Amino acid sequence: MSEGVSITKADGILSIRFSRPDKKNAITRAMYLAMAEALLSIDASVRAVLFSGEGDSFSAGNDLKDFLAAPPQDDSHPTIHFIRALPKVPVPMVAAVHGSAVGIGTTLLLHCDVVIAASNAVFALPFTKLGLVPEAGSSLLLPQLMGYQRAARLLLLGDSFTAQEAERYGLVSQLVEPDQLEPATQKVVGKLRALPASALRATKALMKSESGRTMSRIDEELAVFKERLTSPELKEAATAFLEKRQPDFSKFS
Ligand code: COA
Repeated sequence: MSEGVSITKADGILSIRFSRPDKKNAITRAMYLAMAEALLSIDASVRAVLFSGEGDSFSAGNDLKDFLAAPPQDDSHPTIHFIRALPKVPVPMVAAVHGSAVGIGTTLLLHCDVVIAASNAVFALPFTKLGLVPEAGSSLLLPQLMGYQRAARLLLLGDSFTAQEAERYGLVSQLVEPDQLEPATQKVVGKLRALPASALRATKALMKSESGRTMSRIDEELAVFKERLTSPELKEAATAFLEKRQPDFSKFS
């Protein structure tokens, strides 16, 4: 257990539960580090990974205070570690999403194999609103999943979208009422636990055989992302959010 995230392994399931409900499960460096280490040390005893969130949100994405204080600049940064670990996970990953799923709270779902969402889930990829660019391979995976125009609305305009839209767009595999999220997730996890682990791993490896392309897109994105993290636009956006005011981008060209 690292502060902000509860990571447990039981009955073959590695469970990663965002546990910072007072900050809408925004992800800090310590949380990224703990998650990256857990994902990179998956061994034969793990049959599947489950992501979920405590409180009323799945995750509000990168902790903006952290981004201002210590923007990921070199490859040893926990955020980069975590992003690079996602496509390497050899076992099925399941996500149970409710409430807000923002930024990496949504892009990590593109690396999950089964995404179960409660009907109250709201997704958003507000990268441009923060002066940033997409990460975690989303500039490749999102258009691939839902088509260019839909992805462009979500990535360029940063419009939030509902669980119903997310299901229609193919990001969500199963949509359930909020009180059914836990039982529906346990049903899927139970099925994965009972299936032959070697066949699951081999099937995932086949479906992800082009993950080299995802890895190189992640690196291309990171090169721009790192630069944008030191931009005055991000500083203005993150400061405005933390000060609970609207950002003013009028002074930037
Ligand atoms: N980083 C740091 N703190 C965050 C955060 C983030 N990404 N998201 C939420 N918080 C904090 C808020 O600052 C607030 O802290 P406070 O109680 O000390 O003032 C607390 O979590 C509750 O957030 P609040 O905005 O009041 O909740 P809400 O229910 O009105 O809205 C969200 C929830 C997720 C829609 C909203 O918090 C949000 O838009 N967060 C920013 C998302 C974002 O831009 N993420 C980065 C993507 S790259």
